[in-house]
Amino acid sequence: MSTLNFLAISGSLRRSSHNTGLLRAARNLAPAGVTIDLYEGLGAIPFFDQDLEGGPEPDAVADLRRRVREADGIIIATPEYNSAVPGVLVNALDWLSRPADQLVLGSKPAAILGASPSQFGTARGQLVLRQVLHRMQVPVVSHPEVTVFQSHRRFDADGCFIGDDVTESLLRTLLAELVTLVERSRPADVA
Ligand SMILES: Cc1cc2nc3c(=O)[nH]c(=O)nc-3n(C[C@H](O)[C@H](O)[C@H](O)COP(=O)(O)O)c2cc1C
Repeated sequence: MSTLNFLAISGSLRRSSHNTGLLRAARNLAPAGVTIDLYEGLGAIPFFDQDLEGGPEPDAVADLRRRVREADGIIIATPEYNSAVPGVLVNALDWLSRPADQLVLGSKPAAILGASPSQFGTARGQLVLRQVLHRMQVPVVSHPEVTVFQSHRRFDADGCFIGDDVTESLLRTLLAELVTLVERSRPADVA
């Protein structure tokens, strides 16, 4: 198997974010031949404004676009805000969805997951995210659905994953499924 690089995006800007902690945990559980880079620039992405289209791209957006283009796959961990996804995350996805005829995320395999202190563990938010990514033609791993509920019991005060067998197993399976999706999406002549 060739080396694969995944770009991990957390939808939370919070310093002790459970979702960012979940991505750090996933990075530590990556299978052989897979590296995971944690994207930390979400807070620097300006509000999308359609009047800016066609002009010079803001540096933060150009950086995100380049990193997405260079990645073999994307992992997005989203909090659930008001049964949906945080505005900062949708804002970044709106930038990546334009120009509409050059979808940088289109055909880029992705896996989604999320953590919340509720009993539902971002199930509703992930449905919203799945719908947005579907509109952007992003192939998303469909199973397993990693909804880390009661996250306040699984992360410490600094947002570090305490560790439990079920979540770790789900993370391993999700990463393996993303590898499979990436390899299935590759043209036949690429090793
Ligand atoms: C504006 C706002 C709305 C929220 N709405 C929900 C919600 O609909 N469902 C839920 O499970 N948690 C909700 N929460 C709680 C978040 O799940 C919780 O703060 C979580 O820790 C955020 O993720 P993070 O730790 O990665 O920052 C909300 C939090 C905020 C700040």
